[in-house]
Amino acid sequence: MTKRVEGKIAVVTGGATGMGRTHAQLLAEEGAAVVVTDIDVEGGRDTVTLIEKDGGTASFVQHDVSSSADWKVVVDHAVQAHGRVDILVNNAGILAFKSLQDTEEDVWDRIFAVNAKGTYLGCKTIIPAMKESKAPSIVNISSMYGIIGAPNAAAYEASKGAVRTLTKAAAVDLQEFGIRVNSVHPGVIATAMTNDILADPEGEKALLGTTILGRAAQPEEVSTVVLFLASEESSFMTGSEVVVDGGYIAQ
Ligand SMILES: NC(=O)c1ccc[n+]([C@@H]2O[C@H](COP(=O)([O-])OP(=O)(O)OC[C@H]3O[C@@H](n4cnc5c(N)ncnc54)[C@H](O)[C@@H]3O)[C@@H](O)[C@H]2O)c1
Repeated sequence: MTKRVEGKIAVVTGGATGMGRTHAQLLAEEGAAVVVTDIDVEGGRDTVTLIEKDGGTASFVQHDVSSSADWKVVVDHAVQAHGRVDILVNNAGILAFKSLQDTEEDVWDRIFAVNAKGTYLGCKTIIPAMKESKAPSIVNISSMYGIIGAPNAAAYEASKGAVRTLTKAAAVDLQEFGIRVNSVHPGVIATAMTNDILADPEGEKALLGTTILGRAAQPEEVSTVVLFLASEESSFMTGSEVVVDGGYIAQ
């Protein structure tokens, strides 16, 4: 059977752990050569080792997504190694559990620099590298908290809301280059970002809130959606938002 992203070149940011790692692994399993990027060098290299152990192709570039200079290094690496980029997954993200009234200005700025500016820089810097691609696709990782509010994550929620509408703006502007751009909105996923809270029964209950399926997801359950949007199976989707939240925001 043909693999779903056979022969494609993918860049996955924040690929050292959590969902970024499983997005990179699944894309590689389905035939893509993956450039894994992260500020975490050790974790990023471990992701590459795991992919290679499974017979996949991957490389690592140290990368702070809030830096335009770092983005240039990533894109240059991908083009030198593979000639082009077909898939960009803007996954790197950070969270601070703080109410609006407790959010310091520097916390707000850092969260916006990584989550919102990082996604903008990715969408912009990747354009020339996607010119040679037959079916370029950008997948931006937002959150269900880019659609609804909740207590104690004001800057995070605002930054993920920015990713949501930036995705629609990018879908309009980048159609000139044939690039599709969609966003994914995960609910509660078991990763380093949430594990401490999920380990405490009270914290778990509060975090799961109205999740219809009554559990946190494994990162792989989001990666399957990212793979679909990255692949040509979603060829008529652009500017769309796909919610993967076990039904949290349905009620
Ligand atoms: N875990 C959840 O419940 C959840 C829910 C909705 C959305 N998300 C989003 O999914 C994405 C992945 O989250 P996760 O749960 O796997 O998080 P995680 O904390 O497990 O992993 C995030 C990765 O991003 C990297 N990173 C942080 N700052 C970076 C920077 N400036 N440049 C490059 N890399 C950087 C980290 O080193 C880490 O490897 C994030 O955008 C997050 O906001 C997570």
